[in-house]
Amino acid sequence: MCGIIGCVGCGDQTLTTLVHGLSKLEYRGYDSAGVALVGDDGLQVVKKAGELDSLRGELDALEGVSGTLGVGHTRWSTHGPPTDENAHPHQDCTGDVGVVHNGIIENYQSLRDELESAGHTFESDTDTEVVPHLVEEGLEDGLDAEAAFREAVSRLDGAFALACVVAGSDAVLVARNDSPLVLGIDDGATYLASDVPAFREFTDRVVYLDDGEFARLDADGWRVSDVKGETIEKSVETVEWDAEDTGKSGYDHFMLKEIHEQPRALRQCLQGRVDELGGTVTLEELGDLEPDRIHLVAAGTSYHAAVYGSQLLQADGVPAQAFFAHEYASSPPPDTDALVVGVSQSGETADTLSATRTARRHGAETLALTNTVGSTMARECDHVCYIRSGPEIGVAATKTFAGQQTALNLLTQVATPGPSDRDVIEALRELPSDTQEILDESNAETVAEELLDSDAYFFIGRALNYPVALEGALKMKEITYKHAEGFAAGELKHGPLALVTGNTPVFATVVGDGELARKTIGNVKEVEARDAPVVAVTDGVSDVKRYADHVLEVPDTHPRTAAILANVQLQLVSYYTAAKLGRSIDKPRNLAKSVTVE
Ligand code: M6R
Repeated sequence: MCGIIGCVGCGDQTLTTLVHGLSKLEYRGYDSAGVALVGDDGLQVVKKAGELDSLRGELDALEGVSGTLGVGHTRWSTHGPPTDENAHPHQDCTGDVGVVHNGIIENYQSLRDELESAGHTFESDTDTEVVPHLVEEGLEDGLDAEAAFREAVSRLDGAFALACVVAGSDAVLVARNDSPLVLGIDDGATYLASDVPAFREFTDRVVYLDDGEFARLDADGWRVSDVKGETIEKSVETVEWDAEDTGKSGYDHFMLKEIHEQPRALRQCLQGRVDELGGTVTLEELGDLEPDRIHLVAAGTSYHAAVYGSQLLQADGVPAQAFFAHEYASSPPPDTDALVVGVSQSGETADTLSATRTARRHGAETLALTNTVGSTMARECDHVCYIRSGPEIGVAATKTFAGQQTALNLLTQVATPGPSDRDVIEALRELPSDTQEILDESNAETVAEELLDSDAYFFIGRALNYPVALEGALKMKEITYKHAEGFAAGELKHGPLALVTGNTPVFATVVGDGELARKTIGNVKEVEARDAPVVAVTDGVSDVKRYADHVLEVPDTHPRTAAILANVQLQLVSYYTAAKLGRSIDKPRNLAKSVTVE
């Protein structure tokens, strides 16, 4: 989704800082970019459709674009196609007001009609453009820039993070409602952004804005205020990860780096929460929470983690159910005694926020299970459990899925009455090194190469390996653009088998040699009989290898952690398939890292 950067106090480095910030926001997904700078020459706006390099080219060609404060934006199209005109920043009729926006202004059409009737002319198809024209109206009425911006924001319905600059004013003006915004505080300079990586190189001190808050950034520093202009005291927090964590560290892609970061991410997730000697799990964040039932709400990859988590909880006797967040938001089940867990890497996904808000409105207690410290979900829910994976830049979620699965194992141990399961604790302890073993020894690249020309890729699994199949397919389709589907193995012969041919490889996860494994091997034989290449993802305990054309090994461990490890192999197959096809792995077409509109 769109990304915002802004800065004050960076002197002659203002433009460089903005463009650097935009490059750090690229991962969110975008199709045009632009900057607005205020300096002695008034307001200068430069914007271009396409990649950031197009904007860089335009800035080089123009020469002399400079200023002492400014804002920048990466746009992910919602209202109108990705053209130069629709790129942000947007301006008013005088060209003195520049605005960038993340979110959707729901009443923009009526505002636009009103402004056009009053003589304003519009240059773009966007909802955003009403804002600079509203600010212009306020300025014409004699208000100063800050008052005009407040007045304009008061007219808006919808979700927005807004930043505004005005020629002749020494401030960047900011407002937040339902879209993330964070300030970066440095000595002599202040930044604002949709996400910390945009300015992490310059400072680790941050202030998270809440809904309904305004901020003014100027040479004297920063001030946060409410809708009436009253100052709000905010705490300055410290980010616990380094700027290098948002670089590629020598890997070709963020996705591959993040796949390889999983041992560390999982160690961080477990640290201080598992007492191996005592055989106990503690999630201090949850206090003495003892839920009678749990609803897990999530989208995309996080939904697959939620399905996995609901199975763990059910198996241990805690009634639990996973829901698509968008469905939960519009038709929540009536039981308000459930603990509602929002599972979300970003903590900003609009569907999932909408679901946790619905739950709160209905009187349910809520827990955010998220990776993003200070995210909206983390701040709104009654409890928060961080998965501690570190920043994830690749659009395709990898290490955070493993982190969610691991944290859900911890939650299950805590939520289940009675002592923790020592076998699970032992398997969790070994999880980081088991993951490393896969990363060191995987033959996924060879498998990807040999199956590269396939028509489609199918993934099957039972019980805990069903969400693994769903996630394996989602990863494959997201980054390779190939047709891929995940099926519950038991459903195969009830329809999907019709799709299976000699050119549709089937990835089957088979763990142990119990009934589930035996039944899945039965499915493997069914697809083998239809000439489909079989890839067994297995610990080798059963004899599934006999029926497989390729084998992706996972260490022999507890079925709960085997489902985490099997996914690592599938991540690697998708990654290498996409790499060999020359896809845009970290920024797949049409996708955004954090989907902040419903
Ligand atoms: O930030 P969230 O975990 O709430 O995001 C949910 C989905 O948008 C996300 O998992 C999406 O499916 C990813 N692209 C998966 O790789």
